[in-house]
Amino acid sequence: MTDNKTATLKVHGETYELPVHSPTAGPDVIDIRKLYGQAGVFTYDPGFTSTASCDSTITYIDGEKGELLHRGYPIDQLAEKSHFLEVCYLLLYGELPAAKDLEKFETTITRHTMLHEQMQYFYRGFRRDAHPMAIMVGVVGAMSAFYHDSTDISDPHQREVASHRLIAKMPTIAAWAFKYHIGQPFVYPRNDLDYASNFLRMCFAVPAEDYEVNPILSRAMDRILTLHADHEQNASTSTVRLASSSGANPFACIAAGVACLWGPAHGGANQACLEMLEEIGTVDRIPEYIARAKDKSDPFRLMGFGHRVYKNFDPRAKVMKQSADEVLDLLGVEDNPKLQVAKELEREALEDPYFAEKKLFPNVDFYSGIILEAMGFPTSMFTPIFALSRTVGWVSQWKEMIADPQNKIGRPRQLYLGETMRDYVDIENR
Ligand code: SDX
Repeated sequence: MTDNKTATLKVHGETYELPVHSPTAGPDVIDIRKLYGQAGVFTYDPGFTSTASCDSTITYIDGEKGELLHRGYPIDQLAEKSHFLEVCYLLLYGELPAAKDLEKFETTITRHTMLHEQMQYFYRGFRRDAHPMAIMVGVVGAMSAFYHDSTDISDPHQREVASHRLIAKMPTIAAWAFKYHIGQPFVYPRNDLDYASNFLRMCFAVPAEDYEVNPILSRAMDRILTLHADHEQNASTSTVRLASSSGANPFACIAAGVACLWGPAHGGANQACLEMLEEIGTVDRIPEYIARAKDKSDPFRLMGFGHRVYKNFDPRAKVMKQSADEVLDLLGVEDNPKLQVAKELEREALEDPYFAEKKLFPNVDFYSGIILEAMGFPTSMFTPIFALSRTVGWVSQWKEMIADPQNKIGRPRQLYLGETMRDYVDIENR
């Protein structure tokens, strides 16, 4: 951060000079850390639309241009040329790995994919119709009761082991949540499969027959995981950072991130979007739903549309749209009605002044569900897949924050609009 600029604030008749820091990319920030001490005022920003909560070197988003960089590398290049575990290495360590480092990292992750056998009992406590995300919140949180040799967050080695364990075990946890939900036996990970293939096999293999991973599906799954890996200070990442700022158990903090991601305004939108496309059903009903999305008296919103940061196309949605066409074509899925509705809905919405004026474009969740459904997943598994991918983003941001010597507990203030002080009234006088 370069500190050669200041901002002048006049409040209550006094003038204050606040430092302005310039980033390597994006807007300048006004440093208000000493504002309350100097001026006795807070800033007010519910939803954090104009607030930088931290500094970071991991991911950069240019919302106006629709650009997403991981350690400087554009997401479309990573989606085309890299693969998920290499992107995990990049997010965790800051550079693309040399071949020998990548091989060592992939071997490490592969050898951490099994869960402690006792963890199976947590699944047995759930009803079979429990949402897989409910199961994941519980089981990921339960990891905090198991891996005590990687919870001393002051030890860089233990932080790294906890990161590897989380990245490695999330596919097993998610796949077993799916198997438990559909009443099939758990399938153990295999060390001779790559990350995405291992996950697909744990989801779709059954003891009654051999299972061969379809390379088309494995490549598509790996690309989906790459596209969801990290996204700056989104709600679930901010949740992980805030929970971790108290020094809490890292596994419990990731469980908090899983819980936040579940919401339909965030990672739950992929499930909500596919259910919306199912409800619309045919292209002739699209105008009715666009009208509802524009109607302020109707709580309905187009799921998979709009974004707090992107005021242009979400670059991930572009890649996902191409992938949807490729995967469905390779799978021989003829004119998928939901894909037809999605494409026509996108076309009509983007021609509508309401969406153009509010800069509402398809986001990462708009096309992902179509691919996942074509791969055989029920809608309830869409957000667990988002969560297993985003785990690397959560742990990378967590590691960055814990290693920062400036790290302190997050404790926002408020604009208080309640009662001023008043005396207790005995019940006989009320
Ligand atoms: C993700 O933060 C991240 O990076 C998240 C994410 C990640 O990778 O971590 O990118 C993943 O969560 C993607 C977003 C998935 N959610 C959805 O698709 C749900 C539908 N989208 C909306 O709920 C909404 O667009 C949000 C939540 C995504 C963003 O909401 P904001 O930034 O708080 O914007 P807003 O609600 O203030 O909307 C601004 C205006 C409003 O109209 P006015 O009050 O100004 O008249 O746009 C309208 C909104 O009503 N609007 C929509 C809309 N989204 C916003 N109108 C219709 N349909 C929509 N989808």
